[in-house]
Amino acid sequence: MRTTGVTLDHAAALYDWLAPLMTLGLESRLHRHVVDRLNLDRPMAVLDVGCGTGSLTRLIADRMPPGKGRTLGIDAAEKMIEVARRKAGSRRVTFEAALAEELPCASGSFDRVVSTFFFHHLDENLKKRAVDEIHRVLRPGGRAVILDVDVPYNLFGSLCAHAGYVLFRQPEIMENIQGKLRSVFAASRFAGRWSLVSRHSGYITLFELVRDSQETKSGDIA
Ligand SMILES: C[S@@+](CC[C@H](N)C(=O)[O-])C[C@H]1O[C@@H](n2cnc3c(N)ncnc32)[C@H](O)[C@@H]1O
Repeated sequence: MRTTGVTLDHAAALYDWLAPLMTLGLESRLHRHVVDRLNLDRPMAVLDVGCGTGSLTRLIADRMPPGKGRTLGIDAAEKMIEVARRKAGSRRVTFEAALAEELPCASGSFDRVVSTFFFHHLDENLKKRAVDEIHRVLRPGGRAVILDVDVPYNLFGSLCAHAGYVLFRQPEIMENIQGKLRSVFAASRFAGRWSLVSRHSGYITLFELVRDSQETKSGDIA
């Protein structure tokens, strides 16, 4: 698919081996933490943006009350989506090749949106467009939970984040290190409704963003 985001078709076959290494073994724990924050206490519609091979998406589907709710994972890399579909088994989960900046979803159609280790694959302009889209597809009062590389808060975190930047030569990672993801949230329609929930490994932050419950689905104030 055509996007200026850093897509991972070339890494699809190896991604599930590499991801735990790149997160220093924390990947599954962080994914479980994200799912806990979703409060899936009733059937919900949940969208996973930049889902990769779908490990988090499957975890969400497994936490949904049996036979109820809706879980969709999207990724711009078609090969990632192929792996995600293969691994889904008989779960009630759908995977689609799609762009975060042009989500193929109706406005206000999701109770929750998640994304993990995705925003450091987008430049600032694309970060803005993806955040706008997440806002649009959330229902009024709906919540997004976003985990990503962020401003390091200790030496260890700073070393890890900068090592990632040097290793992958991704300017988008440096933007996150410099706090650009936060500025994008602050300038978006989530302004005043986003917060840092928890911080991990010195450079990873879990953010929560809530869509104003007074808005209508199309974004007007009710
Ligand atoms: C590091 S992976 C994260 C995968 C998964 N969320 C996880 O936690 O393991 C980032 C993903 O973002 C996808 N991506 C990059 N640009 C995108 C875009 N514009 N729209 C949707 N997905 C995109 C890549 O193909 C890749 O699979």
